[in-house]
This record gives sequence, C-alpha cells and structure tokens, in this order.
Amino acid sequence: MLSRVCEPPADDPKQEAEIYREMDHRDVNRRFVLDLFEGGGVGPRVLDLGCGPALIPILLCEYVEETKAGDLADLEVLGVDNCVEMLELARVEIELAGRLRGIQLEQADLSDDESLQTDLADTVICNTVLHHLDDPSTALRLALRALRPGGRVFIRDLVRPESDAEVERLVALHGGAADNEVAGISPPQLLRQSLHAALNLSEIRDLVSGLGMDADCVNMTSDRHWTIDGRCPGIA
Ligand SMILES: C[S@@+](CC[C@H](N)C(=O)[O-])C[C@H]1O[C@@H](n2cnc3c(N)ncnc32)[C@H](O)[C@@H]1O
Repeated sequence: MLSRVCEPPADDPKQEAEIYREMDHRDVNRRFVLDLFEGGGVGPRVLDLGCGPALIPILLCEYVEETKAGDLADLEVLGVDNCVEMLELARVEIELAGRLRGIQLEQADLSDDESLQTDLADTVICNTVLHHLDDPSTALRLALRALRPGGRVFIRDLVRPESDAEVERLVALHGGAADNEVAGISPPQLLRQSLHAALNLSEIRDLVSGLGMDADCVNMTSDRHWTIDGRCPGIA
C-alpha cells in the first residue's frame, strides 16, 4: 500500500495558478455540477471551498440558468481560496462570464480553524482541494461549521491508489500530454503528485465518521475520485 506524500508548497503561486487554469478541466467540472444537482437540493447559498479560478461556480450559475434547476436570482455563490493569485484569476473569469452579480470571492485558509463563519451556506461544495492540505480534517470541520443546520456537503477529491502501477495507469489515462510542460511542470507530473497526496477511501471515511457523519456518505464516483455527499450531522 502507498503512504500519503503531501504536496510541496508552491514556489511560485502565480505561475501555479496559471498552469492550473491552462489545464482542461471541463469534463470533470461538468460531471461535478451534474452529480451535485442529480444528488439533491442545492443552495440558494452555496460556499465553494478552494474555488481556484471559479470555473465550478460559473458552471453552477450556467446550469441553474439553462435548466431552471433553481431560481438564479436567489443563488448566491461564495468562492474562497487562500491563494490571492488564484482569486485574481477567478475575478477575471467571473467578469468574462458576466457573473459578477451571483458570485462573490473571499480569501480564506482552510488550514485555519477559525477562517470561516458559522451558518454561511445551505450547500458547501469543494472539488480536488483536500489533497493539497496537510491536515484535511480542518477543512472538513470548517465545511460543517459553515453549513446551516441540515445543510448539504458535497466534496470530491482524488483517491490515492494502492500501488505505483495503479498511479501510472491513471496518469497514462487521465494525465494529458507530457510535452505540454510549463515551467518544468507537466500535467501528468501534477496528476502523479496529486494522486500520491490524496486520501484513500478508508482514510476519508474515518475522517467523516469522526465528525459524526455516516461513513457511507463517502463513495467512489469514478476510477480516481471519491465523493462525500451528506448532511450536517445530528440534524433531520
Ligand atoms: C486543484 S485546485 C482546485 C480548484 C477548484 N476547486 C476547481 O475544481 O477548479 C486546488 C485549489 O485549492 C486551493 N487551496 C490549496 N490550499 C488551500 C488552503 N489551505 N486554503 C484555501 N484554499 C486552498 C488552491 O489555491 C487551489 O485554488
């Protein structure tokens, strides 16, 4: 079994933000939004933890508008990220998408127990962020703290494979082109690093049940992702 290897901190956060934005996440982002809506009610106040360039909040608004899955006028999305360079990119994306009215941004550190208020959101979402954190349990506690009583948490991340061979199989399948290197970092290398830093299914289930949620609300949802889809514990 592979041990977890946390990712090194970014040497150049601006460059990392730009590299991440250059990668094509359209299919996984669309799948995230579809699964979110297919799994139950969303919003109206949505909090996106580690929102990156805010592509998921933008897709979410577009989905609500296109499908009338909710009332766009009521939808309030707050994206938080600790990286100012990422938040700057997000602001540009939101402006280009014409979504300044529906999406707010704030800087918040998911490693800081006090960084978010309580009762901020009806739904907390978070996509491929936990593997960046040395201690993902703090972010999970923050997610539950930020939810209104009975609110929904929908968190997805990569799963750490059992072996190097499985890491390499997933990198070959999903890692993209190795020659598409920016500043010495290629998309396959980024995926490899992220898979090694990810939690496996039993680790995330242990964390979730330690916070009073049902471990069964965490399931494998692709060949390389688990998803938590649950409610704030102790409330009907
Ligand atoms: C892989 S990106 C995912 C971005 C976005 N969720 C998406 O799916 O497009 C990870 C994001 O987590 C953010 N992040 C990493 N550590 C964080 C922390 N301690 N607090 C808040 N955000 C963090 C990074 O800045 C980055 O924007």
